[in-house]
Amino acid sequence: MKERIRIAPSILAADFTRLGEQLQACEAAGADWIHVDVMDGRFVPNITMGPMVTAAAHRATSIPLDVHLMIVEPDHMLEAFAKAGAKRINVHWETCPHLDRTIRAIKALGCDVGVAINPHTPAALLSEVLPLLDAVLVMTVNPGFGGQELITGTLNKIRQLRAMISATGQAIDLEVDGGVNLETAATVVEAGADVLVVGSALFTERYSVATGMQQLRSVLANKKPV
Ligand code: DX5
Ligand code: ZN
Repeated sequence: MKERIRIAPSILAADFTRLGEQLQACEAAGADWIHVDVMDGRFVPNITMGPMVTAAAHRATSIPLDVHLMIVEPDHMLEAFAKAGAKRINVHWETCPHLDRTIRAIKALGCDVGVAINPHTPAALLSEVLPLLDAVLVMTVNPGFGGQELITGTLNKIRQLRAMISATGQAIDLEVDGGVNLETAATVVEAGADVLVVGSALFTERYSVATGMQQLRSVLANKKPV
């Protein structure tokens, strides 16, 4: 399996006036993915960025982009994000009535594919598609905003998904998103997560991205992926 817990800084919390600089700091600090939160004001009550900002991020860093589509009818936009440089495209289970088709369309564009589930969506709903996936993205907050508190009721779902993934025998990432910080990182990893999306706990005025990454790595020091 994978050797270490991977960290995916979410640029939702970055200072957009100096995005390139912040991406460079992530790269220097050894970030594994850059998480790009795309919101449409319909599926979630907020509007953020689209393919243009994704393409700009792609130009500014060689770290692979993990694009999280919080948009209705994502099928129309898959190609645009693939062209913008997405390495992985995550769609929400709740937005895809023909999820199998959407998954295959993402693969056909040459991207890795992940499916995200909201806090209320049961793990079991992924059982049929799981073997087709590169990643499952478990929302540990209700999507729409950074800086929210992790919903502890989702920990059990992370445990369930870890067991479901083990049963496939495949190397599927178990990524968690929302409220991951120095206090909660070890707990989600113990539950089975192996990729951590981190926004407000990394991009802050209180310390640098380098310090934030270092602190996270130190709380995860003796934690290995399950
Ligand atoms: C929430 C987004 C998250 C968010 C996480 O809808 O999907 O990726 O940026 O931010 P924090 O780490 O601040 O909870
Ligand atoms: Zn996200």
